[in-house]
Amino acid sequence: MRSRALSSVMILGGALIALLACQQQPKASPGAQLAWAYPKGPKEDLPPYPAGELHVPGSTVTYTGEALNKGGGPPDWFPQNHPPAPQIVAKGRDGVTACAECHRIGGDGYNGTTDLAGLKAEYIVQQIQEFRSGRRHSWEAGRPAVEEMIGIARKVSDADAQAAAAYFSALPRIPHTRVVEGDTAPAARGSYYGWMQPVPGQPARPLNGQVVELDADWNRALLADPNSPLVIYAPVGSTAAGEALVRSGGPNGQACSACHGPSLKGSAIAPPLAGRSAAYLARQLLDIKTGARSGPAVAQMQGPAQGLDDTQIRDIAVYAASLTP
Ligand code: HEC
Ligand code: HEC
Repeated sequence: MRSRALSSVMILGGALIALLACQQQPKASPGAQLAWAYPKGPKEDLPPYPAGELHVPGSTVTYTGEALNKGGGPPDWFPQNHPPAPQIVAKGRDGVTACAECHRIGGDGYNGTTDLAGLKAEYIVQQIQEFRSGRRHSWEAGRPAVEEMIGIARKVSDADAQAAAAYFSALPRIPHTRVVEGDTAPAARGSYYGWMQPVPGQPARPLNGQVVELDADWNRALLADPNSPLVIYAPVGSTAAGEALVRSGGPNGQACSACHGPSLKGSAIAPPLAGRSAAYLARQLLDIKTGARSGPAVAQMQGPAQGLDDTQIRDIAVYAASLTP
């Protein structure tokens, strides 16, 4: 009896393995080739600001690391470039983290989040509602940075969301991305904060079809210097392939610019795509395609995202990131 039971378990087990193997064979699941857009690492603390006086190129402002480490919002190196920021953006309120901590005071965004400068105010408010309602989450369940954004959307008051939206929408969209095509990227590792960070002293690594998005100057990025761009290391040919897909609309056949405006700079009905983080754009295309971002607001975008495979998503994201915002 015992041995019969055991052998039928083994037969069942074998059948299950065979079934799994043949399910995996024909087609990779959506997102399998997009690991590059989802950097991750163990939970760790952000490094403190370095002690002493701090400066960034082109700014006359001085902070001390000691003062910044006490909290109270991120540094504002170019206050002349934007109107005074509302409290929710610069300092936060009632346990809601300041928007600038993750999207920067100039709205250009950190590696791992996204830029908000120049997005329509109604769109920003709407997206807060989408995060709040559960209609917008990440394809990668529990992705820490997105969970944080969802938590903020649930806690922020409507008045503060409106104030933040009015502020960010009035800011100019400034170029902060640069695409470099090649076969390798500097050695880097994923971080808990959803970005890639450099691993100094290691040789460059082959891209193998992936993209690596790295701050041009890691120390300046940690100081929230808006003039240190995101460098997007991408496989040779990806920008041109992305351009062709954007023009034709890919499998859906509707040119992206029909809604996202000429040169993908945005329109009355759809947000800009030009000059944004490639990893962010790729995550959104996968979120929309898989329904992790769903509901009436994004209904028009479901068709265009539907037929795109991982390589097409990569190429479109790289091309859009290469454009002037
Ligand atoms: C702890 C970090 C963090 C803070 C603080 C934060 N956000 Fe975000 N936010 C994110 C991340 C990460 C995303 C990108 C989510 C993704 O990849 O899907 C995001 C995305 C967004 C988007 C979507 C943009 C788009 O193009 O669709 C909006 C709008 C937004 N945030 C507004 C705000 C506002 C307003 C505040 C302040 C009240 C704020 N965020 C505070 C991390 C943060
Ligand atoms: C029929 C109009 C339409 C077409 C065509 C279209 N889009 Fe969109 N797209 C939208 C709308 C509307 C949104 C905003 C959805 C929302 O409010 O949640 C959007 C959102 C997006 C986003 C998320 C942006 C963000 O800020 O999070 C990406 C990425 C995107 N589209 C890429 C594309 C690409 C690539 C193509 C071409 C293959 C394309 N779209 C074609 C209407 C369109």
